[in-house]
Amino acid sequence: MRKVPANPFQFGRQLGPGELVDRESEVAAVKRALLERGKLFVIGPRRFGKTSIINVAESQAAGEGGVVLRFDAEAFPTPQQLAERVVAEAAKRLAGPAEKVHGWLSTMFRRLRPNGVFNAQDGTWTVSFGVDTSAAKAIPNLVEALDGVDRAAKAKGRPVAVVIDELQALLGAAGVLAEGQLRAAVQTHEAVGYVFAGSDTRYLERLTGDPGAAFFNQGARLFVGAIPDADMLAFLRRAFASAGFAVSEAALLAILDAAERVPYNVQALASECWQRLCAAWTGVWEPANVMESARAVALRSDPLYTQIWAALPPPQKNALIAFVRERGQRLQSERVTHAHRLSSSAMQKALGALQDKQILRSEGVRGVVTLRMQDPFFALWVDSIAP
Ligand SMILES: Nc1ncnc2c1ncn2[C@@H]1O[C@H](COP(=O)(O)OP(=O)(O)OP(=O)(O)O)[C@@H](O)[C@H]1O
Ligand SMILES: [Mg+2]
Repeated sequence: MRKVPANPFQFGRQLGPGELVDRESEVAAVKRALLERGKLFVIGPRRFGKTSIINVAESQAAGEGGVVLRFDAEAFPTPQQLAERVVAEAAKRLAGPAEKVHGWLSTMFRRLRPNGVFNAQDGTWTVSFGVDTSAAKAIPNLVEALDGVDRAAKAKGRPVAVVIDELQALLGAAGVLAEGQLRAAVQTHEAVGYVFAGSDTRYLERLTGDPGAAFFNQGARLFVGAIPDADMLAFLRRAFASAGFAVSEAALLAILDAAERVPYNVQALASECWQRLCAAWTGVWEPANVMESARAVALRSDPLYTQIWAALPPPQKNALIAFVRERGQRLQSERVTHAHRLSSSAMQKALGALQDKQILRSEGVRGVVTLRMQDPFFALWVDSIAP
């Protein structure tokens, strides 16, 4: 086998500086919010690259002296644990020498009566609160923690920002009261920039766009959509050419089509093609080869897809088959509902449930709303198993 450069397709991990295709303006907007005490909502479907954009902006902001406290709400089983981590991160990043932290904590976060324990091995803190930490108090405690960060930021004299990724995991279940409590705090914080990101686009659009919602007009909104074809194609073309692989233009386009332009899926499929090209291939790589690779990638998630599928009630299974076979077109027409054994209203209900389960997502482009698969490879899998 001839020697080829390392696989240039990075998927399944967030990208760092120099690895993003396109996204300059998005990175600049996030960086500005981080350094200039802005308030920004980064909204985009799963795996379109929100976290990667924030990563790069964070490292640029850090290079210019900013301090970014970053949290993934999805990683915390309860909001209380997030509140404690906010204080712990502040202790690590904003407080100064370890021996002064205990005093600093009780000054900045007095109302929480925090108790910090230093872990000398990695220089981190674990913090617990000496106040009521029952579930009902979790959001108020988080608000107190953020108030403390604002006080600490004023004292610090450097740009400080808080990033909360997957905001819906924190607020979605907590209800409108919690949304209002968080808004009331964030609104008054003058020394801290906030970047909130989330992949539940329906929830975030409501939270920030409904005139009656808590975060209406509370910050700028950045919608993370598809990467322009020209940029993505240029990236793919360059990467394959660098190894001397002959990949037709039609095949490059087939990668985007099969992955439905979801950046994660594009990278995953390109990576599969790359590996197959490395293994044996000598001719020109064509769309048929891309499709075979796509089916192979989809099959690799078989255990996961099987579980998702098995948990769907029959009407949702039928609606999903209809969606895949009809490519999302005219799903409520007489012909389609009849062919898939659903009434028009049952179809509508099932499609709604599939959105709630994050299997489908709605996408608005120039005034037209269409349904898309969250994971385009799941569609290939459904197509392969369905009768
Ligand atoms: N600008 C980009 N150029 C090329 N590939 C990208 C880009 N952005 C994201 N990707 C690909 O998509 C993957 C997912 O990106 P990332 O985790 O940033 O998305 P996300 O929107 O935060 O997803 P989630 O909602 O699941 O957290 C990356 O690992 C990478 O493979
Ligand atoms: Mg993310």
